[in-house]
Amino acid sequence: MPRRINKNLAIFIIILVIALLTSLGLGYEKLSDSKIDRPISSPKESGKKINQFNKSQHSLNEATSLWVIVNKGRQLPKDYRPGNLGVPAVSLRDSRSSDNMLLRSDAASKLENLFADASSAGIKLMLVSGYRSYATQQVVYTNYVKAYGQAYSDATSARAGHSEHQTGLAADVGAVSRRCELLKCFADLEEGAWITQNAHRFGYFVRYEKDKQSLTGYDFEPWHLRYVGKELATQIKDSGQTLEQFFGLPAFSDYPSSIYRLLPVR
Ligand code: DAL
Ligand code: ZN
Repeated sequence: MPRRINKNLAIFIIILVIALLTSLGLGYEKLSDSKIDRPISSPKESGKKINQFNKSQHSLNEATSLWVIVNKGRQLPKDYRPGNLGVPAVSLRDSRSSDNMLLRSDAASKLENLFADASSAGIKLMLVSGYRSYATQQVVYTNYVKAYGQAYSDATSARAGHSEHQTGLAADVGAVSRRCELLKCFADLEEGAWITQNAHRFGYFVRYEKDKQSLTGYDFEPWHLRYVGKELATQIKDSGQTLEQFFGLPAFSDYPSSIYRLLPVR
């Protein structure tokens, strides 16, 4: 056989072997379809929700901050009183001149919206208790201890400086009928159920949820709402977390030996 034919045969056999290996997927990494022809889809397009919530929008440590976190381990300054307190235009349990009918103006206007929306759904609500000064909280807590002992009181009432009510951003709400006022059965009334489902739309959320005393430090309080703004309130409700969990802060079921002092007004 001529040498030239031999050479052509050898080239043909080599090409044949390469074609065979290629068809078997050997010799190089086969690119999957997704790597070749699919555009890189955004998480939104693929059905995943992007969590763009910025957890640093407000301070958690300043008394005046919308997101200030007050609990058994974090205490407000004794002399802290919000500068912008006002009485919301809603049904009030106590006289307009009572300090505890005050709320911070941002929280007050959203409570008005919340109550108006509830009212249009046939739900009649009233403000039971709003702002409480350090001194008032001290009296409230002391009276609880005298009446019920310390263990029950600590599960129910904050010690002075440890109540969200001192921020002017907490509102205890109730039914105008006054049924189940400041009682757990409020959650079972249509008023309480409406609050649980809708408060976040107005920037409020139920701060002390059922069966979370080990996380929040307090027994279930379906009437105690905390104002943080619509965005965060919705995040909290959707996440099912406590305020502390959401921000990765420790839970205080009891008062620790070392208490963090929240920062006074700048
Ligand atoms: N009842 C709530 C915990 C307070 O006293 O602030
Ligand atoms: Zn309260």
